[in-house]
Amino acid sequence: MKRSLSGIKPTNIPHLGNHLGMILPAISLQADHDVFYFVADYHALTTVRDAEKMRDWSRQIAAYFLAFGLDPQRAVFFRQSDIPEVTELAWMLSCVVNMGMLERAHAWKAAKDRGNEGAEVHGLFAYPVLMAADILIYDSDVVPVGKDQVQHVEMTRDMAERFNQTFGETFKIPAAKVREEVEVVPGLDGRKMSKSYDNTIILMDKPKQLRKRLGLIVTDSTPLEDPKNPDTCNVFALYKLFATKAQADELAEKYRAGNFGYGHAKLALAERIEEAVGEARERYYELVARPDDIEDVLAAGAVKARAKAREVLNRARANVGFRAG
Ligand code: ADP
Ligand code: TRP
Repeated sequence: MKRSLSGIKPTNIPHLGNHLGMILPAISLQADHDVFYFVADYHALTTVRDAEKMRDWSRQIAAYFLAFGLDPQRAVFFRQSDIPEVTELAWMLSCVVNMGMLERAHAWKAAKDRGNEGAEVHGLFAYPVLMAADILIYDSDVVPVGKDQVQHVEMTRDMAERFNQTFGETFKIPAAKVREEVEVVPGLDGRKMSKSYDNTIILMDKPKQLRKRLGLIVTDSTPLEDPKNPDTCNVFALYKLFATKAQADELAEKYRAGNFGYGHAKLALAERIEEAVGEARERYYELVARPDDIEDVLAAGAVKARAKAREVLNRARANVGFRAG
């Protein structure tokens, strides 16, 4: 069976972009893949500066995956920082990757554009190296991620190839897996949904709060009675992500007929969302109330992940001429 591996940083509760772009696609792969998923807390440490938040957000991410159906009996589900082997492999990869490639990483370029280069932490610059280690250390085949992470997976392939050429066959070459229809989920303002733009929709918000947030979706000022164009509307773009084809066609008709306002469309969107996530939200809150159970799941996952990580790390150690441990 092919192995699917992915991680997500505990930098807040997941938003709809994370949900559709990464979390659901990753979970659905458990049906026919051997899956390894983790809470990327080493990566979060580049920005999270509060231990309590690191702990809470890590458990929230874990609860989220479990609430939406990740089966811990089948999946290997763990915390990245429980696998210290990955930081050793990151060092080995650091010794084959050149600075030029890392300088081309989007996140680093963005930091430079902000004029912040000198003040940035080294972890941000080295971020793609640790991510490559995450992927390569489990002999992963596919990496389900949103589009913005594809560059990192390309870099991972590059590092693996360089290492294999230099030291002999060591790593499997992985590939990113992006779901086209949710490549870039739009936020409240129509730009890519992202924590950094404060335009997120959080499905785990209580329904009332969530409806309030949906009220903030930016729309144009076409009067209520006029016909409207669904194809240029942010509300409709989001609606389509939760609706069947028939439901989407029906809403499009109402837009075009007029006498249907954006407020109505937002209510319809809220309904679809509740149908899709209402039960999972209840499970989520039950789980976050039992942090010890979450810890047990992650600890059991770490034991399995670590065994595999050790095996691949030993292979790499032997190939570069270290004692194979
Ligand atoms: P953010 O941009 O809010 O900081 P992250 O960078 O932590 O989100 O993303 C975590 C995962 O979710 C990644 O796999 C990323 O590609 C995916 N993702 C984030 N935002 C979106 C979006 N708007 N559409 C699709 N996928 C997304
Ligand atoms: N960089 C990813 C993000 O920001 C998180 C991540 C860390 C990851 N290691 C990974 C994703 C390995 C896939 C595979 O969302």
